[in-house]
Amino acid sequence: MDLLDKLRAVEERCSTITDRSAIPGLTIIDRVLGPCEVVVQGRPTLMFGSNNYLGLTLHPDVIEASRRAVVEYGTGTTGSRTANGTLAIHAELERTFADWFGKRHAIIFSTGYQANLSLIGGLCGAGDVVLIDSDSHASIYDATRQTAAQVIGFRHNSAESLRKKLERLPGGGRNRLVVVEGLYSIRGDVAPLRDIVAVCRAHGAYLLVDEAHSLGTYGPNGLGCAEDQGVLHDVDFIVGTFSKSLAGIGGVCVSDHPELRALHFLARAYVFTASGSPSNIASVGAALNVVRRHPELRDQLWANVRRLRQGLRDLGYVIGETESPIVPILTGDEERTVALWQRLLADGLYVNLIAPPGCPVDECVLRASCSAAHTSEQVVRALGIFAHASLQMQSAV
Ligand SMILES: Cc1ncc(COP(=O)(O)O)c(C=O)c1O
Repeated sequence: MDLLDKLRAVEERCSTITDRSAIPGLTIIDRVLGPCEVVVQGRPTLMFGSNNYLGLTLHPDVIEASRRAVVEYGTGTTGSRTANGTLAIHAELERTFADWFGKRHAIIFSTGYQANLSLIGGLCGAGDVVLIDSDSHASIYDATRQTAAQVIGFRHNSAESLRKKLERLPGGGRNRLVVVEGLYSIRGDVAPLRDIVAVCRAHGAYLLVDEAHSLGTYGPNGLGCAEDQGVLHDVDFIVGTFSKSLAGIGGVCVSDHPELRALHFLARAYVFTASGSPSNIASVGAALNVVRRHPELRDQLWANVRRLRQGLRDLGYVIGETESPIVPILTGDEERTVALWQRLLADGLYVNLIAPPGCPVDECVLRASCSAAHTSEQVVRALGIFAHASLQMQSAV
């Protein structure tokens, strides 16, 4: 057995597709024409596969803040937060997040992935227990792999399954951490946080909610699903990422527990990597201000969600039940899903393709994501491409 055999198998699979521009996962975006329009292989392409939910990647305030910071602080921090990588703007962004959430403490990370690794790795060790939803993001699964804590999965979005798992644990120590997401990124479904909070409280477990996809999109102030469901102050740790609504890169955790600050010294994934670059940190601060000042962005986003969902249903596509900015088109078989994805791309529409190992065999999904920046014309154009692709797929059968 050769180490490279694993890689060769993937290469062989890719080589069966002759047009390399149309290999899912290898698409190159040549140019960006706007928040929702890009150029792929020389062709203007509608972007319905990004997490730019509020369309802020090209917002003038965000760009200007980024430009100023690069002039003022330079291009990088060249060090970890614990060494030389904490600038005044990192500390200021932490205060802004704490203030926005009405929580006492905030800590920022270089990515959302790293935030989960740092939180779970920093909080849990030998003798502790982490309970995670079975549909958790890879960053949550990977975080559990680097801890000596016992890891227990519970049924997706089932507070009842969580309760049973907690009941089976011996003793009543406060050494349990429950980890869920607010909005799940593949199927776009929302966690029943009120029920989950109640179970955690009854069993003395700490609760971490990852609001990666719901930050900026849910709740009266855009704080996420916990705010939307009225349980913001019952959640011990809220994690967010900057790479979606906030149009940058990085992660954050807010909490009322003062112990959060000790992660600065204890969390290996935080201590041993460089901090967010000045331009990025400044751009996230500016994006956050836009989110706070412009709640109407969320109204535009949700109007687009409704238009796209209705249009897809009218065309006969089977989509997920939950209304969310992530619209999962349930396509099933992998070969058919890849063919449909390629047709959409050829016609100028980019969506995401989820295939094994990202989902079980024959449960493939095309994931369309809405943005507040999609115009009505772009939504209509996307639906036209979906209609054409559906006809072509039928005539190809
Ligand atoms: C639920 C969840 N957590 C964490 C992450 C990682 O975030 P980042 O891309 O900022 O590393 C993602 C990314 O998609 C996610 O969906």
